[in-house]
Amino acid sequence: MKIAVIGSGGREHAIAWKLNQSELAEKVFVIPGNGGTENNVPIYVNDFDEIKKFCKLEKIELIIVGPEDPLVNGIVDYFSDTSIKVFGPDKAAAQLEGSKISAKKFMKKYGVSTGDFEEFNKINSAMKFIKKIKGNCVIKYDGLAAGKGVYVCSTIKEAEDALIELKEKYGEDVHLLVEEKLIGSELSILAFTDGENYQVLLPSQDHKQLLDGDKGPNTGGMGAFCPVPFYTEDLKKLIEEEIIKPTIAGLKKENFNYKGVIYFGLMITKSGPKVLEYNVRLGDPETEVVLPAFKGDLLELVLSCFDGTLKDFKIEFNDGYFVDVVLASGGYPKAYQKGYEITGLEDVSDETLIFHAGTKKTNSKIITNGGRVLNIIVNRKTLEKAIDKVYNECELIKFEGKYYRGDIGTRNS
Ligand code: AMP
Ligand code: GLY
Repeated sequence: MKIAVIGSGGREHAIAWKLNQSELAEKVFVIPGNGGTENNVPIYVNDFDEIKKFCKLEKIELIIVGPEDPLVNGIVDYFSDTSIKVFGPDKAAAQLEGSKISAKKFMKKYGVSTGDFEEFNKINSAMKFIKKIKGNCVIKYDGLAAGKGVYVCSTIKEAEDALIELKEKYGEDVHLLVEEKLIGSELSILAFTDGENYQVLLPSQDHKQLLDGDKGPNTGGMGAFCPVPFYTEDLKKLIEEEIIKPTIAGLKKENFNYKGVIYFGLMITKSGPKVLEYNVRLGDPETEVVLPAFKGDLLELVLSCFDGTLKDFKIEFNDGYFVDVVLASGGYPKAYQKGYEITGLEDVSDETLIFHAGTKKTNSKIITNGGRVLNIIVNRKTLEKAIDKVYNECELIKFEGKYYRGDIGTRNS
C-alpha cells in the first residue's frame, strides 16, 4: 500500500520511519517532509486540492495527518468523495482541538474530569471576572494559536496583561476561557480510536519550556520521555474511567467520524486526573518516544481503526525507557538563524534514533531550517541510563548556535 504522511516535523519523520517497518507499506511519501525524510513532496499541508491530485496520481490508499490545522480545516471531509482513507477526525470532531470552548463544553456534557471554567465573548467582562478571582487563573484564547494562546496567571496584574495582549491581537470581541488553575504533574496520553473503541500508547511527558527546571518561554516542546514512572496501575484505571471512556462515548454520541488519535493533555492533581486539553492528533515531541516504544506494526494499528478490528488489537511495548532531547537553533522560540551545516549525525551509535524537524537537505549536506532542528532518541533499560546516553549523543552532533535543555526526563513528578 502507498501512504502519504502530511507534515514536516519530528513527529512526521517518526511516523514515516515506523510505517516503513511494515511489510504492508509499499512506499511512504511525506508532504512536504524535511531533510531527514525520504520521498518528500513539496506541497503545502493545507493545499487540499494539490494533495488530492497527487494522491490520485500516485494511487495513495492512506493519508496520515500529522499537524492539527489540516484537520481543523476539514481534510477528512474533503476526501470523503474518494476511496482514500484519511487517518484523523472530521472537521466537526477536530473542534475538540480547534476550539477550547467547544472542548470544555464537550467534557462537561459527557462527564469528563476537568477543571472549572467560564466563557467570555468580551475582554471587558473577562476583566471584571479576573478581578473577582484575584487573577489566579488560566486565560485561553478559544482558537488555534500554535501554543501561544495560553496564559497561566497568579496575580491580577498578570491576568490583566494577558487580557490586554489578547485585546491587542484579536480586538475587544474575542472568545476566551478563564479556567481554574490546576496544580499537579502533567501527563500526555495518546489513544488510537475508531470513534467507538480505543488502544492507549505508553504515557509520556513533554517539556514545553525553553529552560531547565521548566523555566522560560513556552516552545513547541524541548524533549519528551516515556514511560512515566508515576503512572501506576491505579492511576491508569482512574484515567480510563474518568477521562478516556467518557470521551470515547461522547465521540460516538456526537456521531463524529473519528478514525485517528486522540491526545489527552492531563494534569494529575491531588483530587485526581483532569483534562487540560484535547489534541486531535499525535503530539510532538511525544510521538518521537511513544512510536519507538510501540512494539507492533503502526500500519496495522492504523488500518484496524478503519476495518473494525481495533478493539481486538493486541498492543505491546518495547522494554525500558525512551528519552528524546530536542536540539534547537540558538534564539528559538524568538528570532534565530537558519542555514547552518549540521555535522556528526553519523557519529552517534547505530541504535540511537535521529528524527529531523527543522532541517533541509541541500546537495549532500544537511542544514538547519527551523527552530527545533533535531530529535535525538535513546532507549535503555533504566531512565538514568537513557538520559546519560542521550546527552553523550547530543554532544556529538554539531551546528552553530545549537541549544538544548539539560534536564529532559529528570523531573521527579
Ligand atoms: P494547553 O495548550 O491548553 O495544553 O495549555 C498549555 C500549557 O498551559 C499546559 O501544558 C499547562 O502547562 C498549562 N495549563 C493549561 N491549562 C491549565 C490549567 N487549567 N491549569 C494549570 N495549567 C494549565
Ligand atoms: N506536545 C504537545 C502538542 O503536540 O501539542
